[in-house]
Amino acid sequence: MDARDDPVVWNAWYPVGAPTDIRRQHATRTRLLGHQIDLTIHKTWISAACEGRPLPVTERLGYVWTTLGRPDGPPQSLLEYYEVDRVTMNIWSTPIKCSGLRIIDNVIDNAHFPFVHPGILGDAAHPDIITAEPIIDEGGTLWLPSQRAWLPLTQSVAEYTYRIADPYTVILYIHRPQSPGRHDFLGIFAQPVDEENFIAHKMFAWVHENWMDERRLKSDQQWISVQDKYVLERHTEKRLPLAGLESSVSVDVGSLAYRQWLRDKGVRYGAVQ
Ligand SMILES: [Fe+2]
Repeated sequence: MDARDDPVVWNAWYPVGAPTDIRRQHATRTRLLGHQIDLTIHKTWISAACEGRPLPVTERLGYVWTTLGRPDGPPQSLLEYYEVDRVTMNIWSTPIKCSGLRIIDNVIDNAHFPFVHPGILGDAAHPDIITAEPIIDEGGTLWLPSQRAWLPLTQSVAEYTYRIADPYTVILYIHRPQSPGRHDFLGIFAQPVDEENFIAHKMFAWVHENWMDERRLKSDQQWISVQDKYVLERHTEKRLPLAGLESSVSVDVGSLAYRQWLRDKGVRYGAVQ
């Protein structure tokens, strides 16, 4: 379908890369929603255009964001990202061969941890997942609060909250038990190249700790994403079914809430209609 026929998707902001990567790789051409995007690297900023039409750009959360449509505000924010005691980086910007909606659906499904990330994010001996009721706030953002799952790395139950402000993005809040009220953050921002291909941008913003080694953190996070990429690219249906098709497969509360939220918004681009 033509992305213009899906106003929620067309009018959203999308990241097109981290400024440092764009500069280093001189990546002046990318794709978004079936259209070529030309990037121009200036001394202090990066501009974007589509078929000669200048597009709005904003640098935020470590990425250059642009839009083909008319968003009703700036790109989503996360003020904590800018706290001075955080380590922030782009884990990767990598192409994945399926709908970007699929990765959001994957990220919010803790039930896959023991099977896809054994020994890292989950453990087959501790498959229990505790979930709470999804919330939609007054801004229309979908929240999946307080999802609990066993974390082998710390040998304890970890608590996660997911924030979905746009169909193709999710921010993961990892609760910090030693500092209540604070979180470590991972952002998964999908740049839909077309309905069945996207570029996964993975934002990292954790509170700094003395044990941290940035290169190690990056490679560990990339390894987790490689495991998800392997699974994502093996779906026979590249787009995300919002109803029907996968209803025989048990999906968790979060996944059901996300698919319902997409249906209520009328999202069709990247979904099975
Ligand atoms: Fe995963």
